[in-house]
Amino acid sequence: TSRRQRQMCIRDSNRRDCMKEFRNLVSSEDFSCEELLELMELGAEIYNNPEKFSEKCRGKVLASLFFEPSTRTRLSFEAAMLRLGGSCITVPDPKVSSATKGESLQDTIRTVGCYSDIIAMRHPHEGSAELAKEVTLVPFINAGDGGHQHPTQTLTDLLTISQYKKSLENMTIGLCGDLKFGRTVHSLVKTLSKFKGNKFIFISPVELVIPEYIKMYLNDHNVEFIEVRTIEEVMDKLDILYMTRVQRERFFNEADYVRLKDTYILDNKKMKTAKDDMIILHPLPRVNEIATEVDSDPRAKYFNQVKFGMIIRMALILSLIHISEPTRQAEI
Ligand code: CP
Repeated sequence: TSRRQRQMCIRDSNRRDCMKEFRNLVSSEDFSCEELLELMELGAEIYNNPEKFSEKCRGKVLASLFFEPSTRTRLSFEAAMLRLGGSCITVPDPKVSSATKGESLQDTIRTVGCYSDIIAMRHPHEGSAELAKEVTLVPFINAGDGGHQHPTQTLTDLLTISQYKKSLENMTIGLCGDLKFGRTVHSLVKTLSKFKGNKFIFISPVELVIPEYIKMYLNDHNVEFIEVRTIEEVMDKLDILYMTRVQRERFFNEADYVRLKDTYILDNKKMKTAKDDMIILHPLPRVNEIATEVDSDPRAKYFNQVKFGMIIRMALILSLIHISEPTRQAEI
């Protein structure tokens, strides 16, 4: 081939699809306990020495694709990439993307992979993240798929727990509220059940109980759990109280939502019997389920959790982009 022909020969990063030398995060089960602990360590290092990481993703681009509303997840992903020295592209509103013209999710993901080095996507349909994973050309992160999973919220929760409890083992964790539709609960329970000695107390109205498949998973793995209807009866046993909002957007009718939305409101009176070192977590957004008077209780850690969310997403982006660096370049 002539020199001119060789110059025209593009080194095309999209050829990485043949090599698949990268990892994705679709489900909370994608990482082993060992890998989760390594990620927590990296998160702590970033938290303590942010300046050491401020150029690590120079020249890299994160694409945030959010087909459902978000404040924390979207902004923390974008802030994480910016704080690593990288850049972000986004679709400001799903209504202005070509999905409204009928483009398939797979084609959208393939396209976005041509512009970016990593993709974070939230989508209202359970299973959408699995579909995206099959076709993505760059590392893909599930930022929430319907009522199914929200694995990066779980990473956020784990970093928060590990900072305040100094362990991820031997705890009694109460999860309260909408345990049926609350995807953060599903991801967190499956993940914490991998660490030894953890027990779960599921606190929900009968209409919003934890799904059967999660209970089967816990039974199969010999993990202890009970289900109750009130916070008061278990408060003094808890090391962690994980509050959740009733997920209005996943209800089939408004009347049921209105009937159930204020079933649990955590206030200072209910906190009286809690352990001194119990921590209160909430993935947020909060509606009514934690009275604002609780915010000044030193056990309330849900706004600290928000900060940890950005930190652990910095650790995740670094890990996935690093893993995905091609070891050879393909030529077309
Ligand atoms: N916790 C969480 O997922 O918040 P957002 O819906 O605001 O992203």
